[in-house]
Amino acid sequence: MTYIPVAAMQLGPDEEAAVLEVLRSGRLAQGPQVEAFEDGLASLTGSRFAVATSSGTAALFLTLKSLGIGPGDEVITTPMTFIATANSIAHTGATIVFADIDDSLNLSPAMVETLITGRTRAIVPVHLHGNPCDMSALRALGERHGIPVIQDACQAIGATIDGRSLGTFGTQVYSFYATKNLTCGEGGAVLTDDDEVARYCRSIRHQAYVPGKPYLHDAVGHNFRLTELQAAIGNVQLTKLDAITTARRENAAYFDRHIDDRSFVRPVVRPTDRHVYHQYIVRVTESSGLGRDDVRDALHEAGIGSAVHYPVAITQQPPYRSLEASCPLAEAAADDMISLPVHPGVTAADRERIVDALAGLAQAAA
Ligand SMILES: Cc1ncc(COP(=O)(O)O)c(C=O)c1O
Repeated sequence: MTYIPVAAMQLGPDEEAAVLEVLRSGRLAQGPQVEAFEDGLASLTGSRFAVATSSGTAALFLTLKSLGIGPGDEVITTPMTFIATANSIAHTGATIVFADIDDSLNLSPAMVETLITGRTRAIVPVHLHGNPCDMSALRALGERHGIPVIQDACQAIGATIDGRSLGTFGTQVYSFYATKNLTCGEGGAVLTDDDEVARYCRSIRHQAYVPGKPYLHDAVGHNFRLTELQAAIGNVQLTKLDAITTARRENAAYFDRHIDDRSFVRPVVRPTDRHVYHQYIVRVTESSGLGRDDVRDALHEAGIGSAVHYPVAITQQPPYRSLEASCPLAEAAADDMISLPVHPGVTAADRERIVDALAGLAQAAA
């Protein structure tokens, strides 16, 4: 019986050939691969400008800095995300304000509204697990209060809302970390229609260079550059993204049809949105009589990998506990969520094994 891993990269001979080509070209940084990757990302997301970076963390940090955010400002975000979202905000010196989630596991627009103050400078929703947030509500809120909404789309490349790409809803940041739907090992990008955001991010990622003036620097910058090797992998991955997303969505649709939602409840997904299933989540209900960690152990025994994204809400993480924020819904989700294997390497037979294993557990507990 083969073990079904919870994540598996989709890399092959095309990526290998692309990397070799870059190695042989002798140009390893700031060349045509990065430019082509940026063009590809801009057209995929429907944004005017793309700035590739060394990570999603760098992309989010740069975007917030481009808006002039710093000490004394407040940024509202979700506590149910990878900690990098919060860290990117913290590094600007701004104060993080955590708003609780709703049944989609994404930031609740109603909760955000109660937390807006005169010092709020940005709202950072996260399309968690690839499931788009309620961007219409969040954007309306932002517009009403004159606050930019920056999408952390690190897990949601290729997602759409009402048939529209995420670029329609403003600036987004992406991560191309090893397990992401589209990967180049490490990497990130800022996608925006705002030419000042793009100009700032492009300059600061490369030590605040001044275009056309070699070795002149007009601010204190960073090295947040993506390499040609990484971009070459990204360019191949872009050609495969549709097939990758389709495979993930097919696996997810099978789980939706066959997993008993009395024992394993799924986050709410709006039917008009294209969830890209970076993760497929079930929540182990109290009425199932099952414990989340026992379910994971039993799956492991049955040769099925799983994970928890995320086992601790950021409100409860050591660096952020002193904020004394309370988000009970996020904290409850951290205790009952499981991520199941949904990647394109999951076969029809694997899907059946996963569904049967869960059904067996639910029956035994009933
Ligand atoms: C929601 C979210 N935000 C931010 C990041 C940070 O991206 P990176 O790991 O590329 O810095 C990630 C990915 O790891 C993520 O999943």
